[in-house]
Amino acid sequence: MTGTAREAAWAKLNLSLDVLGTRPDGFHDLRMIMQSVDLHDDVTVTLDGTGVCRAETNRSYLPCGADNVAVRAAQVFLERAGLTCGVHIRLHKRIPVCAGLGGGSSDAAAVLRALNRWKDYPLSVYALCELGAQIGSDVPFCVLCGTALAEGRGERLTKLPDTPEMFTVICKPDVCFSTPALYAKLDDVALAKRPDTRAMRAALEKGDLEAIGAGLCNVFEQVAIPDHLELNYIKSIMMSYGAYGAQMTGSGSAVYGLFDSFEYAAVACTMLKDKYSEIFLAKTV
Ligand code: C5P
Repeated sequence: MTGTAREAAWAKLNLSLDVLGTRPDGFHDLRMIMQSVDLHDDVTVTLDGTGVCRAETNRSYLPCGADNVAVRAAQVFLERAGLTCGVHIRLHKRIPVCAGLGGGSSDAAAVLRALNRWKDYPLSVYALCELGAQIGSDVPFCVLCGTALAEGRGERLTKLPDTPEMFTVICKPDVCFSTPALYAKLDDVALAKRPDTRAMRAALEKGDLEAIGAGLCNVFEQVAIPDHLELNYIKSIMMSYGAYGAQMTGSGSAVYGLFDSFEYAAVACTMLKDKYSEIFLAKTV
């Protein structure tokens, strides 16, 4: 049994991220509005007769076996489809790791989509999302893509209307946060500000970029930024070069700004390039 399928693995941004409380399973209940952008990894999946799933990447520090979520996704899909073949996954990574951009989750989702397409779509998108939830909290959204409200652990998805085309500058500083440690800090603080998810949905429905920018809110910023004021510096550069709003995505440490003009976004990129090496200009998909 052989065959090759290719998929783009889109990065995600959190337009809003609220942590509502802890759950009996140790995870947290979330409410977040997620948005795919065209910064992407290239994922190539080749089926072979080896009976083994493994990955090869252009980032030497990433694992290539079952510790890699993309490999885990292939195993979960084969198990569900009752297949015994092997899968070789080639990941050409562009999405920075430890960034809150869903890079690993998106690779896993792309593997699920690629295998499903190769098998002539035996699973619906929602069945693929359910498989994705076994792999990681952000994987279901990365299967769906576009704009969506994610609730529960991240697996309860409501598709939202596509946003107007927006440009984004994404800047990943040289700092890496531990996601479980940030959740633990959040459990111990009273949040000063939470996202108004309903207002953000209304802004998205109207395509009101000013309101979208003003409504950005990620509660992780309240426990991440006090020890890393550099994140505020990046946001201030983006705002001073015309962003409608700027914030950290997910559990960081990447910060993004939203722009309606490619030219303004390009200038913001140039200004940040002096100090940061991981800068990307992308647009919403
Ligand atoms: O599911 P994922 O691998 O993204 O989760 C990484 C970590 O983030 C979990 O081990 C957990 O500590 C935390 N988490 C959480 N509640 C969620 C999602 C993640 O506590 N809804």
